[in-house]
Amino acid sequence: MLDNLDRLPPDPILGVTAAFRRDASTKKVDLGVGVYRDDFGITPVPAAVREAEREMLAQQTTKTYVGPAGNVEFNERIVEMALGTLARDLQDRTATIQTVGGCGALRVGAELLRASNPQAVVHVSDPTWANHEPLIGSSGLTLQRYPYYDPATRRAAFEPMLDCIAKLPAGSVVLLHGCCHNPTGADLNAEQWSVLADVIESRGLLPFVDLAYQGFGDDLGSDVVGLRILARRVPQFLLAISCSKNFGLYRERAGALAVVTRNATAATAIATHQARIARRMYSMPPDHGAAVAARVLGDARLRTLWETEIAAMVARMKSLRALLAGRLAARRPGHDFSWLTRHRGMFSLLGLSEAGIAELRDKHHVYVPPDGRMNVAGINETNVDYVAESVAGLIA
Ligand code: LMR
Repeated sequence: MLDNLDRLPPDPILGVTAAFRRDASTKKVDLGVGVYRDDFGITPVPAAVREAEREMLAQQTTKTYVGPAGNVEFNERIVEMALGTLARDLQDRTATIQTVGGCGALRVGAELLRASNPQAVVHVSDPTWANHEPLIGSSGLTLQRYPYYDPATRRAAFEPMLDCIAKLPAGSVVLLHGCCHNPTGADLNAEQWSVLADVIESRGLLPFVDLAYQGFGDDLGSDVVGLRILARRVPQFLLAISCSKNFGLYRERAGALAVVTRNATAATAIATHQARIARRMYSMPPDHGAAVAARVLGDARLRTLWETEIAAMVARMKSLRALLAGRLAARRPGHDFSWLTRHRGMFSLLGLSEAGIAELRDKHHVYVPPDGRMNVAGINETNVDYVAESVAGLIA
C-alpha cells in the first residue's frame, strides 16, 4: 500500500528555502519564501507581539479547547482591521471563522464554495501565488485564470483582466489579491477597484479576496481601500485574512475566513458549515497566534506600538526597492527600473527566463522561486551590490 507513491518534486516556494539551506556558498542570498527580514537577515517577532505573549502567558489559566470557530474577539477585531467601520455595518451578515493561517482560510473557503456549488469555477489571476491553485484545487473545485500582469509594462493588465472577468458566467468566483499582489507586486488602484467592483456586481460574480499582506504595501488603511470599495458594492464575498506577515506570526498559523452574505439567516447557516468543514479537516484552529493578535488589536498601546513596527518594516522594504533600483540602473544605463519602486509589498517579478533563474542560483547562489519572484526583504545593505551585479546582466 505505501510502496506505490512516487517521490514528489519540491514545492516551488518552500523547495527554494530547502535548496538555499543546502548551499554551502558564503555568497548565497535567499530571495525566495515571502518572509520579512531585517538588516541582519532575521525575521523578527514584533515587540508588541512579544509583549502580548508575555501578558497572555502570565494570565492564561487554561488550555482547554477553543471550538471550531476559534477566538471570537480575534475574529471580530481582524475583520474590523480589514473592513473598518464597514465591519460593524455588515456584522449581522458576516460569518467569521478563525483558521489555520491564511492558507486555512483559503481552503475552508474553497470547501465552503464546493459544498454550496460543486460546479463552481474559481478564477485566479495569471500569474498568482504558487500555492493558490493547489490549495483551492485540492477541494475539488475547477480553476481557471484571468489575465493580470503585463510583463512589458510591469503593471497590472487591467483592460484584459476586466474584459475576461466581464465575460464570466454569473456565479463564477473571482479570487483577488487584497493588496501587494503575489508574485507581481503590481496592484490595482482605487479607480480600477471601483470599475472592477461594478463589473463583479453587475455580472453576479462572487469575489474571494486573499488579504495576506495588509499593512505591507503602504499602511494598514491605504492597503485596503480597494477591498473596502468592493465590500461596499457587492452583496456577498469571501475574505481570507492572514496574520503571518503583518504580525510576524508565521509559524503560529493565525488567520480568518470572513464570509459576508446577503442576510443574517444566510450568515447563520454559513457559520454552521464553516464549523463543520473545520471539524472534519482539523477540528479547531491553534489558539496562540490568534489570541496574541486579538490582544494587540484590543490594546491601544500595543496596537500603536505594532503599527509603528509595521511602518518601519514598510519603510525598509521601500528603501530596499529604491536601493536596488539605483544599483541596477548604475549597471544598466538607459534601462527603466522604476517598476521596482512602483510595486508594493515584498515581491516583484524579476522577469528572468528559466535559464536566467537557473544561472542566478547555480552561478551566483541567489535563490528565487521558479517564477522569478524576488522577495525584496531578503536584500540588505551588505548584499545589495552582489544581488544587483548578479541580476543586472540577466534582466532583459
Ligand atoms: C510566499 O508566498 O512565499 C509565502 O506566502 C509563504 C508560502 O507559504 O508560500
